[in-house]
Amino acid sequence: MPTITFITAEGKQHAVTAEIGRSVMEIALEKNIPGVVAECNGSAACATCHCYFDPAFAAAIGPIGEHESDMLDFTASPRRPESRLSCQVRVADALDGMTVHIPAVQ
Ligand code: FES
Repeated sequence: MPTITFITAEGKQHAVTAEIGRSVMEIALEKNIPGVVAECNGSAACATCHCYFDPAFAAAIGPIGEHESDMLDFTASPRRPESRLSCQVRVADALDGMTVHIPAVQ
């Protein structure tokens, strides 16, 4: 299973193994990573699963969807080029070693 490292806004690192096919949001909740709220439970309707993904993995993550991009305009923390909704990113072998920064505010 790939390893993903979540980094909280305070800089604490949590390296976890992630089941392929699950969303990164689901992994964060399952592993009790603080800071990912996910109010809509993965429906891409709340933007409280917003995270900053390692730009080196952008191609492996895949392109951002139009709806996801629209929702990222409503994040509580600033949108950046590496912003994604973690509920819309699926774990794959190609994401092994990726870091995911959790914003200070969701
Ligand atoms: S969990 Fe609501 S947008 Fe991702």
